[in-house]
Amino acid sequence: MDSDNRTNVLSVSNDSELGSYVNASKEQVDKAYEAARSSQKEWGNIEIYKKVDMFNKVADELLDRKNDIAKILSEEIAKPIKDSLSEVERTALLIKTTAEYAKTLRSESIDGDSERGYKKNQKLGITRKIPVGIVLCISPFNYPINLSASKLVPALIGGNTVVFKSSSQGALSAFLLAEIFNKYLPRGVLNFITGSGSEIGDYLITHKEVDIINFTGSTQVGEHIRQISRVPYLLELGGKDFGIVSNKANIDKAVSEIVKGAFSYSGQRCTAIKTVLVQNEVYDNFYSKLKESVMKLKVGIPSDDVNVSFLINQKAADYVNSLIDDALSKGATPSWERKHEGKMIYPLLLEVKDLSTRIMYEEQFGPVLPIYKFNTLEEAIEITNKSKFGLQGDIFTDDINEAFKVANSLNTGTVQINAKSDRGPDNFPFAGTKDSGTGTQGIKESILNMMKDKLIVVNL
Ligand code: G3H
Repeated sequence: MDSDNRTNVLSVSNDSELGSYVNASKEQVDKAYEAARSSQKEWGNIEIYKKVDMFNKVADELLDRKNDIAKILSEEIAKPIKDSLSEVERTALLIKTTAEYAKTLRSESIDGDSERGYKKNQKLGITRKIPVGIVLCISPFNYPINLSASKLVPALIGGNTVVFKSSSQGALSAFLLAEIFNKYLPRGVLNFITGSGSEIGDYLITHKEVDIINFTGSTQVGEHIRQISRVPYLLELGGKDFGIVSNKANIDKAVSEIVKGAFSYSGQRCTAIKTVLVQNEVYDNFYSKLKESVMKLKVGIPSDDVNVSFLINQKAADYVNSLIDDALSKGATPSWERKHEGKMIYPLLLEVKDLSTRIMYEEQFGPVLPIYKFNTLEEAIEITNKSKFGLQGDIFTDDINEAFKVANSLNTGTVQINAKSDRGPDNFPFAGTKDSGTGTQGIKESILNMMKDKLIVVNL
């Protein structure tokens, strides 16, 4: 932090300085909330078609500037450049689709029930969707553009105003996004705040002006929000998605999906496949093909065409290394000699025999994948459901009955049949059970979560 209370943002790849952000004070947080409060009524009254027009402009500008934004994103969070580009493009579509969906929101009417002495047709209720008020949006380091826009647009299109804090690593990319929004939105509607979560996080969350919180980030912080918040919240937290490969799976398809699912963005996705369970008869064939495929992954700096790059910081890399140490000490067999240099962890598979191995259940957020052999699908379901997380799960099988049996038995928000876990397409509902979150996100779901019902009763 330097003297005018800014923090420098360094490139994850080479520690060069990319820019800096302000460490907001409590007074600045108050000002952000004041601006949000004083602009909310007017913003809430703007016609939907005018708002849609603004968001379409935001999306178009994002697309026009996609190469520059992707470059900063890549440097700032070590996301391979093609994935950064795809994040920006995906976000432009998300913004347009969300805005379009909002046009379909309708008031509903309900006839008063005749019980308790009311006469038929005596009362007609009309429920209108109205804004909740001020939304605090907090986005994570791994999707500073997409997981910010997926909170901002549903909140704003629903007539709310927003205080928006991104993760500190990711703040420069998020600033560019906020800047584009603010070019088209009235002043005070979107208020971007930067600073360390440990310094202003609690103040933002417990502020008297906040009406609802939409947070994506670690389970630890999510749990803290559950403890201290006095308002409703939507939480998208950690995940430990299990990929289950049955004896009846198409092995080539399973391998290709699991490699993408586990290693893209170096495994730093809440929906990454983080443990693989393989049934006995296909285990050897699957494992040798998986090894062959993982060996071909390109590792390097994010500006190159690579699959795996640096982890977000040294602490994250140290944690992944500690999980590898633990697995090796418990008899796991590595696919090849482990390799790591600072924040760069090279892809590694670990054949695990002992279920108490930490990486079977802890969220590694890195390019290291445990593989475990099972005998019956009941066993695989039991192992999966022991996880404290419940984001997604994947079953690979060509037997539709088997697929549904597993899908119905996994205690997760989503089950993918014959594909890697994935939040997208962005119009799908996205929810986690247990420590993976609270509430459902998605285009329709997020808009509805950012609105409340107001009942007007016509007495006839
Ligand atoms: O990291 C959490 C994200 O919600 C994962 O999104 O499935 O599009 O990578 P994704």
